[in-house]
Amino acid sequence: MIVVTGAGGTTGAAVVRALRDRERPVRALVRTPRPAPGPGTEVVAADLTDTAAVEPLLAGAEALYLIWPNFSPGEAEGAAALFAAARRAGVPRVVYHSVLRPQARAMPHHAAKDRAEEVLDAAGVAGWRVLQPCAYSANLDAGLAEAARTGVLRSAWGLTRGQSFVDLRDVAEAAAVLLTEDGLDGGTFEAAGPQPLTAPEVADALAARVGRPVRAVDVPPGRPPADEPYAARCLRLMLVHYRAHGFTGSPRVLEALLGRPARPFGDHLAGLDLL
Ligand SMILES: NC(=O)c1ccc[n+]([C@@H]2O[C@H](COP(=O)([O-])OP(=O)(O)OC[C@H]3O[C@@H](n4cnc5c(N)ncnc54)[C@H](OP(=O)(O)O)[C@@H]3O)[C@@H](O)[C@H]2O)c1
Repeated sequence: MIVVTGAGGTTGAAVVRALRDRERPVRALVRTPRPAPGPGTEVVAADLTDTAAVEPLLAGAEALYLIWPNFSPGEAEGAAALFAAARRAGVPRVVYHSVLRPQARAMPHHAAKDRAEEVLDAAGVAGWRVLQPCAYSANLDAGLAEAARTGVLRSAWGLTRGQSFVDLRDVAEAAAVLLTEDGLDGGTFEAAGPQPLTAPEVADALAARVGRPVRAVDVPPGRPPADEPYAARCLRLMLVHYRAHGFTGSPRVLEALLGRPARPFGDHLAGLDLL
């Protein structure tokens, strides 16, 4: 049985699906109780910040896939506590869902993942692996749906820098490889899409998909409030970073894990239900 945390979220649900495709039994940890997505998956509600509640749920697991909730504070400490719990529970394989370039510390959620990776190396778990995805193509879905209706793609990351959007199905399949295959211990694996795209290039791809003109417009960030919450701060600083530097990487490592080319952005677009 493989334990997946954050299993009700965007990433977790995709990883559970990829493991079910491999017919691997899954214990899906969620915060909000919900029905199992299908046979072979047991859904258990537990608060990830409550290590004492999570630790018994790791007993007997062949692997743990640790996803910390997006833009959620306490990741470095929370992940460290769960790595230690996995060691105590005797889980032989721990895979941590990190991010491309965690060392980009201008982004607090990256810095937290960098510290968690450092802790994982010294946590004493038998076999660990790290997956570092770039931004998912799916991050754009709401903006793409709006742009398909209005002809305007609003870009909060500017108009000149690219992102190597990775398909969530590829991320999930790479996670399944790391959870189930031998010979990968101590490895840190980037998961970037095949091609960096700027917002105007995304708009062009969308225009070709819907058969109508679409243009990208720049939507610079506003001034943050003094009491800006952690999640909003992470999102804002991430967009500031993307605007200045882009967020790009090489698909080569992902493709080596998958044994095939990474899915292009057009594959994701083709699957969207757009007006
Ligand atoms: N989006 C990207 O492009 C990208 C790229 C690289 C890395 N990542 C990383 O991927 C991770 C997952 O992101 P995501 O967008 O898939 O997350 P998400 O959709 O926001 O899902 C997070 C899940 O965590 C659960 N959760 C929240 N607080 C919890 C708690 N205290 N205890 C237990 N469960 C809790 C929620 O469960 P319920 O639904 O049950 O309430 C939610 O379903 C993040 O660490 C993010 O930084 C994302």
